Amino acid sequence: MAILDIYLYPHPVLRKKAERVEKFDSELHSFLDDMAETMFAADGVGLAAPQVGVSKRIFVLNGEIEEVISGGTSSKVYEMINPEIIEVDEDKIIFEEGCLSFPDIYGPVERFPRVKARYYDRFGEERFIEAAELLAIAIQHELDHLNGVLLIDKLNVFRQKKIKKLMKKRFGDTELHLQPSEIKKRLK
Ligand code: CO
Repeated sequence: MAILDIYLYPHPVLRKKAERVEKFDSELHSFLDDMAETMFAADGVGLAAPQVGVSKRIFVLNGEIEEVISGGTSSKVYEMINPEIIEVDEDKIIFEEGCLSFPDIYGPVERFPRVKARYYDRFGEERFIEAAELLAIAIQHELDHLNGVLLIDKLNVFRQKKIKKLMKKRFGDTELHLQPSEIKKRLK
């Protein structure tokens, strides 16, 4: 296993529409293991493949986040491949979101409090999950990543300007991908 570099805003890979996964092979499995290890190393709730520089429709979520209504798998990590949201609640809620590609930056985003999603597991088996609260929000956030949509896009112009300035100040002199340990050092 390996801890991968995290790609930071405004790296262009974060803006690409990610491609569907076709092969559910050992290469995919070791990539998923690396993604989980990277997410935990960065203390993340979730991590999408474009955030480690790979433009594929894959994300992982910390298995400890609540809450599953039905489906899913009871494990340490949710691995969702080629995911789609197939049902949403009519309501909306506002939640203060963060993102590993915008370290230590948070902003209010409007989301559905409940979603039902269809995805594939690492063996190519179709699965369904019905999620609420933080897990529902995380699924919507990570799915946005696969379409090149980022946290900053959901915020007002004033916040966008502030975030751009802050990211430039903290990471402007890097190649915009760093090990999680290196990112933590920059935030000190
Ligand atoms: Co994110």
